[in-house]
Amino acid sequence: MAVQEIKKNVYWVGTVDWNIRSFHGYSLARRGTTYNAYLVLDDKITLFDTVPEDFKWDLYHQVRSLVKLEDIDYMVVNHVELDHSGAFPFMYDRIKPEKVFCSTMGEKAIAGHFHRDDFPLQVVGSGDEISLGKKRVQFMETRMLHWPDSMFSYIPEDKLLISNDAFGQNIASSRRFDDETDKSVLFAEARHYYANIILPYSQLVQKVLAKVKEAGLEIDMIAPDHGFIWRSYVPEIIRAYDEYSRQVTKNKAVIVYDSMWKSTEKMAKAVGEGLFEAGTDYRLMALKTYHHSDVIGELADSRILVCGSPTHNNGILPLVADFLTYMKGLKPVGRIGAAFGSYGWSGEAAKDIHKVLQEAKFETPADPTRVKHVPTHEDLAACKELGKSLAAAAAEK
Ligand code: FEO
Repeated sequence: MAVQEIKKNVYWVGTVDWNIRSFHGYSLARRGTTYNAYLVLDDKITLFDTVPEDFKWDLYHQVRSLVKLEDIDYMVVNHVELDHSGAFPFMYDRIKPEKVFCSTMGEKAIAGHFHRDDFPLQVVGSGDEISLGKKRVQFMETRMLHWPDSMFSYIPEDKLLISNDAFGQNIASSRRFDDETDKSVLFAEARHYYANIILPYSQLVQKVLAKVKEAGLEIDMIAPDHGFIWRSYVPEIIRAYDEYSRQVTKNKAVIVYDSMWKSTEKMAKAVGEGLFEAGTDYRLMALKTYHHSDVIGELADSRILVCGSPTHNNGILPLVADFLTYMKGLKPVGRIGAAFGSYGWSGEAAKDIHKVLQEAKFETPADPTRVKHVPTHEDLAACKELGKSLAAAAAEK
């Protein structure tokens, strides 16, 4: 981990978290993450964002390798979630900047998080511009990307957009740029991140993309606060965000389930066979094996979700209930859903899942498919028929 100049006199001074495994319910066991912060050396030396509190000394040493902290003039808080502001009070106390720039909602969030009134906050909004000397910073509020306080900072002289959470990916790496890693992994992780973090705010993403277009911002580098910095694939990631936020899906299915004695698992496999026979690729994901956030990563471009649980104590198995709660909060749209599951006597689970799918505004073309005890050959044939009917419904969308 070393500072890196990303544009003339603009430095990455962030930290790499190789070992993080969970980010409030989002599993990062795949690749860890980074917390990016940026330092601009100009007449007014400016630090954009910080890192989690645990990493404050890493940030300190990164910045200190370039300047004395007391020589920094400004701090910009693009977002108050603690992965970007946890080290803010620590750095503030050593920098004592002349000004701290944040959005209107950022001012409130800073007060609510740090309970101090000595920060020299200057509230900025869309269209506001400050001069650092040779470079300027233009601000754009991006409410709900990812919190109400979020904003972008744009440096027109460098055509550089510091985008905070937007355009991020959770990948820890010793490298900083998009063209220094495997492109297919990079875009897969960008989509996975979008699906787990940004998805509920997709309509706002469309508005921000329109605002960026309308403002005519020339962008040749996007520096997010997580993962790689985009310099070679800028138009592609902007196009990808347009696609992600329109929730464009493929004729693909995710079958997610938990099982007690494998009856529901047998049903899951039979549904998969039916889907495949009708021309729809599918992925089978047992929740004992796959984390809920990895299922969401797969659902990102899948049109069909088939969800199964046996009935347990008159309800859904806990892993399935956990998945449904997580999934519902992310508000996927334009999907087809179906429920299935085995039962012994009361049989509520599949009906309960069906209800959740309807509440989450999935199209539910089929009634819940239920099997008492262990599925017979005929029961499995009915599950296959379910798969075929879902494939047909998806093909029509
Ligand atoms: Fe990376 Fe919303 O924080």
